[in-house]
Amino acid sequence: MTSTRFLEVADLGRDGLGRVLELAAAVKSDPDAYRTRLAGWAIGLFFEKPSTRTRVSCEVGAVELGAYPVVLKHDEVGLGKREAVEDIARVLSRYFDVMAFRVFDHADLEKLAANSTIPVINLLSNLSHPCQVLADLQTVEEHRPLRGATLTYVGDGNNVAHSLLIGGAMMGMHVRIATPPSYEPDTGVVARAAAIAEETNGSIVVGNDVSVLARKADVVYTDTWISMGQETEAKSRLSHFTPYQVTETLFDLAEPDALFLHCLPANRNAEVTSDVIEHERSVVFDQAENRLHAFKGLLLYLAGSE
Ligand code: CP
Ligand code: NVA
Repeated sequence: MTSTRFLEVADLGRDGLGRVLELAAAVKSDPDAYRTRLAGWAIGLFFEKPSTRTRVSCEVGAVELGAYPVVLKHDEVGLGKREAVEDIARVLSRYFDVMAFRVFDHADLEKLAANSTIPVINLLSNLSHPCQVLADLQTVEEHRPLRGATLTYVGDGNNVAHSLLIGGAMMGMHVRIATPPSYEPDTGVVARAAAIAEETNGSIVVGNDVSVLARKADVVYTDTWISMGQETEAKSRLSHFTPYQVTETLFDLAEPDALFLHCLPANRNAEVTSDVIEHERSVVFDQAENRLHAFKGLLLYLAGSE
């Protein structure tokens, strides 16, 4: 194993991230070359929240590499309820070669990783969504070099925005985050991303003026305004986020060849209008497909593939 945890994009290091993206592109172009690469591996997948893309891409990806995925249901495992998080990590480490978790509280991932003897992968927490950003970077790179490209994220400064800040900075991108006041990304994550960007000649800008931040972007990205678990805040969130809808007018402020990305699931005509999702420069379904290839690239990297 080349790494014991993938809780944040930064856990890979810059060389590791570059290698995962290379492996993701290689396995996408020639999946048959990797069919038995993880033969005999057992991979645990745990979900405390709903999932379509993540669950399916992980399960299918594992099978396509010759591994055996086991999906664990949160109501049966009872993370921290039926059994202590630390004990679950120690038990599951005895069965699996890798395990991956989607959780509410990032602190649970930290406990799981600290008490596991096998690699632990973050499949989304309140803090970050690093597997998503592997696919996002792969998708942008299919159209243009990442280094020097400007990505403007519009919306809530939470998990996806955090991972874009770190992953984009690691690849030398200019990452701009446009949020309503009070929904800015975590200041610690922004400071870490800015320190990384200084080393890679990228840059980080966080602000509230969406039309200024979208101007001349190479990529415009948005996510839901109401993340899983925030359903009771829906009404107040809608009132704050409505001016941040990605419309064709907003998208037209970006470069004429700009791409539109969304991690999905999308709420059409909330955070993004349907015409932008269906735009000829929207790559949201390639991005969803790349969740599969990017996860396979990550597993191959963790397995030490050259
Ligand atoms: N983008 C993403 O993580 O989708 P799911 O919630 O459907 O897994
Ligand atoms: N921010 C969203 C991402 C969904 C993939 C959420 O946490 O629900």
